[in-house]
Amino acid sequence: MAAVIRLLSPWGFDRFVRDSKAALMGASVEEFNAAKEKLGALKKDPGNEVKLTIYALFKQATQGPCNTPKPSMLDFVNKVKWDAWKSLGSLSQEEARRQYVDLITSLVGEEAPAVAAQPTGSTKSFQTLLISTEDNITTIRLNRPEKKNAITAEMYNELIEALDLAGKDDSVITAITGSGDYYCSGNDLNNFTKSPEGGVEKMAKDAGQLLRRYVKAYIDFPKPLIGVINGPAVGVSVTLLGLFDVVYATERATFHTPFSQLGQSPEGCSSYLFPKMMGAAKASEMLLFNKKLTAAQACEVGLVTEVFPESSFQSEVWTRLKAYAKLPRNSLALSKQLIRAVEKEKLYAINDAEVERLVERWLSDECMQAIMSFFQAKSKL
Ligand code: COA
Repeated sequence: MAAVIRLLSPWGFDRFVRDSKAALMGASVEEFNAAKEKLGALKKDPGNEVKLTIYALFKQATQGPCNTPKPSMLDFVNKVKWDAWKSLGSLSQEEARRQYVDLITSLVGEEAPAVAAQPTGSTKSFQTLLISTEDNITTIRLNRPEKKNAITAEMYNELIEALDLAGKDDSVITAITGSGDYYCSGNDLNNFTKSPEGGVEKMAKDAGQLLRRYVKAYIDFPKPLIGVINGPAVGVSVTLLGLFDVVYATERATFHTPFSQLGQSPEGCSSYLFPKMMGAAKASEMLLFNKKLTAAQACEVGLVTEVFPESSFQSEVWTRLKAYAKLPRNSLALSKQLIRAVEKEKLYAINDAEVERLVERWLSDECMQAIMSFFQAKSKL
């Protein structure tokens, strides 16, 4: 990493800021331009990882999906930048502009004095998430686009903390979405490949405790929680949707829970909520037989509330959420808590049972072999 940082320095952050003054046409041009100005005024260097994300979003917003030839391995700086841009896949220019604006807003927020939405009195910065509060909406954005937002142990912990802060802040609703072209590719499979201190059994037990706390954070979340599903979703990012209050998806999203393929078993209270929501047979197709649903199919079975065209997804969803966030805060929170209270104890028990089963599964040969196959297949590419 140190080498990456040294090599990126000549790239020239100032030049990037200057280049980014190029004129843009489009719906959110004013917001985008305002964000570019704010970027120039940042006092702290945000670090190379963030600068790469800014660069990639800027290219995607102004030129669309990466269409330039891949630089050679020896052209290291340009290769890293090209990879970052390429990792955004077919993300629309409008969504790239939106993510660019959100990213700059969150960077500026980190430098600003405490805002009312952060009652702890200090702004919290996360390594794997971007958090912003605007128009009474706290947005938690998964931010590992180059890994399709796969959830590492660090990200699980940060999500738990971000949900805790969002639950207590002054916002009316909270939204979770992803950076880049994926919503989330589920558990980071590298979580299973590290050589653990204290042995594999301890590792599985610790991972189980983390998962239990993670799912509990959703069960206990005290105000309306909205999923803004900006692309494909896999594994735990799908199973948890049963604990969201509303789920809006782009037509490009898919919903896949390949548990048995990985020798694992369902979590996120899906073993209870999915059959209840969609009927036992449809739930079994997903949770046992790995059936991947399109956004339209997920909407038919009740996992998704509404599907939007990719071209208008961001503007339609955020316009709607801004209107929801003008509703009385306490009324919304108390009503949500009433709905959740009916089954809260049951959900805790289901979470415990699912985690217990998963800890066993993680130690099974079936699971280890499936994960090794995933990485072996990648290494052959
Ligand atoms: N865990 C670890 N790494 C992951 C990941 C995951 N869940 N999902 C994606 N990645 C990594 C890939 O290994 C790749 O890393 P690399 O650039 O170092 O090779 C990078 O993210 C981009 O993914 P890639 O596979 O190249 O993109 P794709 O568009 O071809 O495929 C997926 C995307 C999500 C379909 C594919 O990565 C995948 O199947 N991931 C595993 C999903 C999964 O099984 N999750 C657990 C469910 S229980």
